[in-house]
Amino acid sequence: MSMCPPQINRHVNMEPRAKSTPPPHGKLGPARNMKGKLTRWRPRHRLRFPRNDQSAKCRNHDDDLRTRPHRMSAENLIELHGLTKTYGSGDAAFKALAGIDLTIRRSEFVAVMGPSGSGKSTLMNILGCLDSPSSGSYRFKGIKVETLNKDQRSLIRRHALGFIFQGFNLLARTSALENVELPLLYRGYSRKQRHQMAREALASVGIADKERNTPSELSGGQQQRVAIARAIVTQPDTLFADEPTGNLDSKTTLEIMELLRHLNTDRGISIIMVTHETDVAAYAKRTIRVMDGLISDDQSSGH
Ligand SMILES: Nc1ncnc2c1ncn2[C@@H]1O[C@H](COP(=O)(O)OP(=O)(O)OP(=O)(O)O)[C@@H](O)[C@H]1O
Ligand SMILES: [Mg+2]
Repeated sequence: MSMCPPQINRHVNMEPRAKSTPPPHGKLGPARNMKGKLTRWRPRHRLRFPRNDQSAKCRNHDDDLRTRPHRMSAENLIELHGLTKTYGSGDAAFKALAGIDLTIRRSEFVAVMGPSGSGKSTLMNILGCLDSPSSGSYRFKGIKVETLNKDQRSLIRRHALGFIFQGFNLLARTSALENVELPLLYRGYSRKQRHQMAREALASVGIADKERNTPSELSGGQQQRVAIARAIVTQPDTLFADEPTGNLDSKTTLEIMELLRHLNTDRGISIIMVTHETDVAAYAKRTIRVMDGLISDDQSSGH
């Protein structure tokens, strides 16, 4: 495979430091626009996201996100310190997360449990870079996520994270194959490459023969398999699953959990999964309990 020249996001990387204006504090650095004019302060991490997201041509640079931050934080995938999230303001303010400290290492399989309204989904949305904390710090592979803007967070999502939801979130009237291809659409792959990768993903979750079926023609378990194929087709190293078996019967739940376990143990994908069911949580190697926006318990099973 031919090597592409490094693609550097000018707004994030390699900008010269402003000589006259020091950064407001140690974490930030200047960014300049194409004419060299200082535009605004940006994080100084050298995140090497592919500039045009042409991943098919530049798979090597896709890997930069996976590799470089590891040098900063070799073992830890996720580090949270004093993380809070407050919804609303004034009298209507509600503190959904009240100061979470948490470290998750690479290739862990973690279940997040807790009563309804305790803050599990709020926590997952922040971990998945879908939402920002109100205060505290979140490092993903050493990257200070709270200093990133929306576009940078979306690059992390696109390149390093996969998501599975209780409701599958598949496009209706769209075939299983096209649903799985979706995350590849904006990454510069040719139609042929997209088909091949989506087919491989569908085969790896055991429904290669269903590629032409639309969601309404599939069972709940098959739909969740399509959703898992869509989540792994970009080869993320971290999967976030919010009640992935919440809509499934007990037999199908076991099948989906075996599939997730396989992704964790055989492929080394880190999994962070919210569940209300103890049987489902038992598949994880570690169970965290959330209560009133705080971690009330953190147990490792050792299996
Ligand atoms: N966008 C929002 N605006 C205001 N309050 C919110 C918002 N999202 C969540 N909350 C509140 O934050 C608290 C935590 O919600 P969250 O969805 O994280 O709970 P959960 O633990 O996932 O619950 P469940 O098990 O029912 O899914 C709840 O009291 C909820 O009402
Ligand atoms: Mg929830």
